[in-house]
Amino acid sequence: MAVIAIDGPAGAGKSTVAKQVAMSTNLPYLDTGAMYRCVAHAVMQSGVNMADPDAVGQVAASARIVVERDSAELNGVDVSGIIRTPEVSSVVSIIAAHSPVRDAMRSQQRMWIESHGGGVVEGRDIGTVVFPHAELKIFLTASPEVRAQRRVSQTGGDVKEIAANIAERDRIDSTRSDSPLRPADDSILVDSSNRSITEVVNEIVHHFQESQKAS
Ligand code: DC
Repeated sequence: MAVIAIDGPAGAGKSTVAKQVAMSTNLPYLDTGAMYRCVAHAVMQSGVNMADPDAVGQVAASARIVVERDSAELNGVDVSGIIRTPEVSSVVSIIAAHSPVRDAMRSQQRMWIESHGGGVVEGRDIGTVVFPHAELKIFLTASPEVRAQRRVSQTGGDVKEIAANIAERDRIDSTRSDSPLRPADDSILVDSSNRSITEVVNEIVHHFQESQKAS
């Protein structure tokens, strides 16, 4: 059961790259950020205090989340669009920092990979915590300017505002005590700043083929 972990900060190009790597390697694709976004949306709907780890954890544990490629369902409702709104983006890191939420999501992610027979998994803690024995671990990054510019071309909006939102999410994601964003010791660092998607995808697929030969 092969797992390729692709971690990195917001806007580094993880989703685009991970989907293409999944196609080239014939592995299913899992976006774990979409799962945390579903929890954030559920919490916003429920009205519970976002700062209360147990209350938020209960919402996460009782939410039925189904993520497949680009689509996300929460309790039977399609939330693929709404989980990408700036409102959700601005609170998701706060919710994702709570350990009860992370415990619930990690076990769902492992079950997903078990039932799909492996996959290309993108997130923040995939190589460090969720799949520490992944075949291949990539830490994908890009300069803050490039990341903000990419988000603007995907979703529109003001570049300064988006840059500030990304910087704040990076800060919360990398300083939380439970599974902070950081490269796994055995990960390969890939900087996508001045490279095309195709170049980055080819490099990752190449590393995967090499790892398959070695095993
Ligand atoms: O990849 P994304 O921007 O859709 O992720 C949304 C948020 O979810 C991100 O700010 C932090 C959180 N996240 C996480 O904590 N762990 C993961 N494995 C994936 C995402």
